[in-house]
Amino acid sequence: MRVLGIETTCDETAAAIVSIERSGESRILSNEVLSQIAAHAAYGGVVPEIAARAHVEAIDRIIARAFAHADLKPGDIDAVAAAAGPGLVGGVMVGLTAGKAIALATGKPFIAVNHLEAHALTARLTDDLAFPYLLLLVSGGHTQLLAVRGVGDYLRLGGTIDDAVGEAFDKIAKMLALPYPGGPSVEREAAKGDPERFDFPRPLQGRPTPDFSLSGLKTAVRLVAERIAPLSDNDVADLCASFQAAIVDVMVDRTRAGLRACREAGITPTTLVVAGGVAANQAIRSGLTRLATEAGLPMVAPPLALCGDNGAMIAWAGLERLRLGLVDDMSAVARPRWPL
Ligand code: KG4
Ligand code: ZN
Repeated sequence: MRVLGIETTCDETAAAIVSIERSGESRILSNEVLSQIAAHAAYGGVVPEIAARAHVEAIDRIIARAFAHADLKPGDIDAVAAAAGPGLVGGVMVGLTAGKAIALATGKPFIAVNHLEAHALTARLTDDLAFPYLLLLVSGGHTQLLAVRGVGDYLRLGGTIDDAVGEAFDKIAKMLALPYPGGPSVEREAAKGDPERFDFPRPLQGRPTPDFSLSGLKTAVRLVAERIAPLSDNDVADLCASFQAAIVDVMVDRTRAGLRACREAGITPTTLVVAGGVAANQAIRSGLTRLATEAGLPMVAPPLALCGDNGAMIAWAGLERLRLGLVDDMSAVARPRWPL
């Protein structure tokens, strides 16, 4: 089975073709991602209208490239999957409409994929990963702990009560005049800095409920940055390193609470999984690997290329749903908000 996946919920125009053999072996036949970073960099964040227009301009070309690199024609696929949300509605409509058009033209089934579900299932594309697992989903818009019991069967254990982790990285970067997108910039600076120079708060540490709060940490960084301004290159690196150290401690502590909540809900996870754009962060990956070892569980994170938004994760989620007969029709609508 081969599925085309289309992703346009934020600032990546992406299309991919993923296949699965009868043996269960999955393969990424193509994975085209066009990042709009340059178009948004001047604004320090994603501008929805610019994003939607850029998706319109790029979508046909990116889908054509996905077919060309897989050496396939539209008639060769078994279904079309497109992200229908959550995300910026203008962009979502572009990908959703393109997906429906290809499904109609080829007569193949159409699957409207939840972008968060795609992040949640991506680790199963590259790893032999059995349900149920505990998932830390960390992206620019979401920070959640979920027990993933099966396709379409998610128990939300906790989430952020204010900022998402990626959002906190992006805001710190903006505050320190580092290039957009903020996560990779902060991680790069942190590698050069002293993580112990500033003792930033670890919000909600030790609380039994697996929730997150990051706005206080962000404010603490801002207050220190204002106090020691003007900032030298060393100051910026030390602020990033100390911020990232606090974030890692928070992720580990809150995920530990998530493991406990999972078991209290009668669910014994096979694995600890981290996914979403922030899962690319090496310090967070290392912290979670330490936690998994402590809990006697394996830790799985998607390869770096599949952490940020991409078409392969949408195609894979489409395949997982197709195998269960979970297909949609042309009435599927764009859903700016769509909780799992
Ligand atoms: O999943 P994603 O590509 O888009 C959303 O669905 O939001 O995640 C993007 C987020 C951005 O906030 C970006 O700054 C963050 O992931 N990010 C990182 C890293 N790479 C991307 N955060 C921390 N460290 C990184 N290396
Ligand atoms: Zn995402």
